[in-house]
Amino acid sequence: MRTKTIATLILLFYFLSTVVSAISFSKIQLPRNASGPESLAFEFGTGHFFTGIADGRILKYRGPTTGFVDFGFAAPNRSKSMCDGTHPASTSLVCGRPVGMALHHQTNRLYVCDAFFGFGVLGPEGGLVNILSTAADGKPYRLCDDVSVHQPTGNVYFTDASAVYNIRQFKTSISVKDSTGRLLKYNAETKQVTVLFSNLSCPGGVAVDDREKFVLVSEFIANRTRKIWLNGPKPYKSDIVNTRPRPGNIRKTRSGDFWIAAGMIDRQTQSKLLPTGEKINANGNVIETVNLEKWYGSKLASEVHMFDYKLYIASPLVDFIGVYEH
Ligand SMILES: *[C@@H]1O[C@H](CO)[C@@H](O)[C@H](O)[C@H]1NC(C)=O
Ligand SMILES: *[C@@H]1O[C@H](CO)[C@@H](O)[C@H](O)[C@H]1NC(C)=O
Ligand SMILES: *[C@@H]1O[C@H](CO)[C@@H](O)[C@H](O)[C@H]1NC(C)=O
Ligand SMILES: *[C@@H]1O[C@H](CO)[C@@H](O)[C@H](O)[C@H]1NC(C)=O
Repeated sequence: MRTKTIATLILLFYFLSTVVSAISFSKIQLPRNASGPESLAFEFGTGHFFTGIADGRILKYRGPTTGFVDFGFAAPNRSKSMCDGTHPASTSLVCGRPVGMALHHQTNRLYVCDAFFGFGVLGPEGGLVNILSTAADGKPYRLCDDVSVHQPTGNVYFTDASAVYNIRQFKTSISVKDSTGRLLKYNAETKQVTVLFSNLSCPGGVAVDDREKFVLVSEFIANRTRKIWLNGPKPYKSDIVNTRPRPGNIRKTRSGDFWIAAGMIDRQTQSKLLPTGEKINANGNVIETVNLEKWYGSKLASEVHMFDYKLYIASPLVDFIGVYEH
């Protein structure tokens, strides 16, 4: 009798654990003809989020009932009739291309990197991005790429992927192994931009830690992620903390770990790259790896973003936001 009860309990436990560990994946479809979401920024209270798409718009997702609404753009002469619905391949100067973005929660300021127009900010009313910086140390940004806000101070860390190649010359920058990218800091108090680190090989992702002691920066071309210490003499000391190929954006979790969107070499073919998200802690120890091949095929993700226990996934190669739960 007793053994039977225990057996039943064990069975029940196994049943429940499979239920609990079940993976679910759903899609939040972008509006008709919209595609290429590159980055995500969440509002804490509402869970609404912002994303930048291929036709130059910054959209805001306002929940399942309202869906996406137009929120902003960085191209001063952008025309909706000319630009809305344009395809990733036609990414243009006229329409703009918002890539990285991050929200400063206390002030509701959305900091944005537009690949053509540089680093800027939007208030809660949206509209045209107020460009704050287009060059540093005499070198214009060719591909302002990703943004991270240190919430307590409002300081913003951002990257310029290359001082030579713009987003339309991305393939060339890969073939020549460009390493002219930079990590920059926007000081919220003085409004000054300073170069913190140079000679990065396509720094496409950045995330600052809660105490502003270090930033993680991914190098897409060099296939590595660095931890750059924000103290000591410049150039700052840095350590390689992850070597997944083709890393993209990096996003901090509320517990102080980081999700990196990256590739993983397929064991079977030994060459194909599979889209993955990898969670590491501040020391670079891998905590979890999530394989996204089932839903993305060989299309790499640009961002894996933990919000409210779910992973939200952006990829410039698709027309939806993935929501992964486990
Ligand atoms: C926007 O239009 C104005 C007026 O035609 C022009 O001077 C300016 O160069 C244009 N800017 C861009 C980025 O196309
Ligand atoms: C949207 O896509 C449809 C179908 O691909 C196409 O017929 C239509 O012209 C597109 N609209 C815009 C504004 O690009
Ligand atoms: C960066 O690269 C330039 C050009 O190759 C070189 O002159 C410079 O010393 C490098 N800087 C650092 C900090 O490595
Ligand atoms: C980075 O990884 C990709 C994909 O595995 C590979 O094709 C490329 O040669 C690597 N780049 C470098 C600089 O090692």
